[in-house]
Amino acid sequence: MSHSINTQSTKTLSKSGGLSGKVRVPGDKSISHRALLFGALAEGKTLINGLLPAEDPISTANCLKAMGVKISSIRKGVEVEVKGVGLHGLKEPDEILNCGNSGTTMRLMIGLLAAQKGNHFVLTGDNSLRQRPMKRVRDPLKMMGGKVFGRSNNNLAPLSIIGQKLHGAVIGTPVASAQIKSAILLAALTAEGTTTVIEPACSRDHSERMLKAFGAHLEIGGEIGRHITIHPGSTLKGQIIEVPGDISSAAFWLVAGSIIPGSDLIIENVGLNPTRTGILEVLEQMEANIEIFNIRDVTGEPVGDIRVIYQEQLKPFSINGEIMARLVDEIPILSVAACFSEGVSQISEASELRIKETDRLAVIARQLNSMGAKITEHQDGLSIKGRVQLKGSLLDSETDHRIAMSLAIAALTCKEQSIIERSNAAAVSYPDFWQDLEKLGTR
Ligand code: S3P
Repeated sequence: MSHSINTQSTKTLSKSGGLSGKVRVPGDKSISHRALLFGALAEGKTLINGLLPAEDPISTANCLKAMGVKISSIRKGVEVEVKGVGLHGLKEPDEILNCGNSGTTMRLMIGLLAAQKGNHFVLTGDNSLRQRPMKRVRDPLKMMGGKVFGRSNNNLAPLSIIGQKLHGAVIGTPVASAQIKSAILLAALTAEGTTTVIEPACSRDHSERMLKAFGAHLEIGGEIGRHITIHPGSTLKGQIIEVPGDISSAAFWLVAGSIIPGSDLIIENVGLNPTRTGILEVLEQMEANIEIFNIRDVTGEPVGDIRVIYQEQLKPFSINGEIMARLVDEIPILSVAACFSEGVSQISEASELRIKETDRLAVIARQLNSMGAKITEHQDGLSIKGRVQLKGSLLDSETDHRIAMSLAIAALTCKEQSIIERSNAAAVSYPDFWQDLEKLGTR
């Protein structure tokens, strides 16, 4: 069967002689969404430096703009100004709100909008987002009096939300998901009474850190920060925010540097929030050559620079349980790393990966196996045999940004050329990925 290649969004890659130099990854995606959202709900101006100028945060900004929030243009290297409208100042939009490919935009918006009494909202997204489960946010909000409706038993977008005065509740979330937690916290800001979220494991805590900085009344208790209580009544005050580089984007260079002979690179200004650094623990398990230095605090988030040098012998890894929440977005690139280790790596308790932008367990196994990898897919994970020479091949991101970038790194290790179709997916979280790759030396 002949296969026609869409050259517009295709990248051709071949063997690299090693990546070297310095790179600054773009702003953290999770923090960027939150800076825009909390800035919109604050009184006064919020100034954001280093906001990720990519498709996902732009979806959040566009939804907020449609509800009357003034946000200056989002461009690389330009400070973004958000004119806050206060907790009760959002206008009912006269159009459907489009969240694009962004799960964070949709899930956080559901929490925010469910609490906008008297207003009606409709949320939709692209093909991928319209297949992702929203009931996990809808059900806890229902316990607070929220009215959210959608297809497939109120699970799928398009969603219709009828804003209500919500009441506080104690809510145990079934999965450690920062999107669910943050949606509840947003709803709780204006609810009647106190709300407590109890997580099964600690998910990324950017919302808690930033809400505190904006002046919300928040208490963190229980074991290792798993109970988050929010007392409504405080107004949020505009802030100046510095967004650190995204460790989930740095992950591609960390693995590239570790597996491509001759590499020696420095990734500057990487966010090192302990709820996000699972990848560093795995690379340590693999005995990769990684050094973290210049650790500092940047508006309430730990940040550092990371040097990575090629390591010939990498150990296999085994991951499951609570670490999954701390590296959930790094599984595709860690699967690439596993192909270069001296043994079999195991990823389990990772079924959340099946409901990301794509079914990432299936997609990464399919794509890497087409390069000759030895990956066996399980219901909740992958077994990956290491020390297999990958072969250049015709690859496809299957529209997933993290798959596109993971395949690019895998392709740099192959003698034969690879073609990655739908490579433009990278723009969802890392618009300059291909330029940075070239700069670091696709030799
Ligand atoms: C995110 C939380 C995670 C992560 C996503 C961003 C966030 O999703 O995978 O890329 O910003 O809150 P879950 O909440 O579904 O784990």
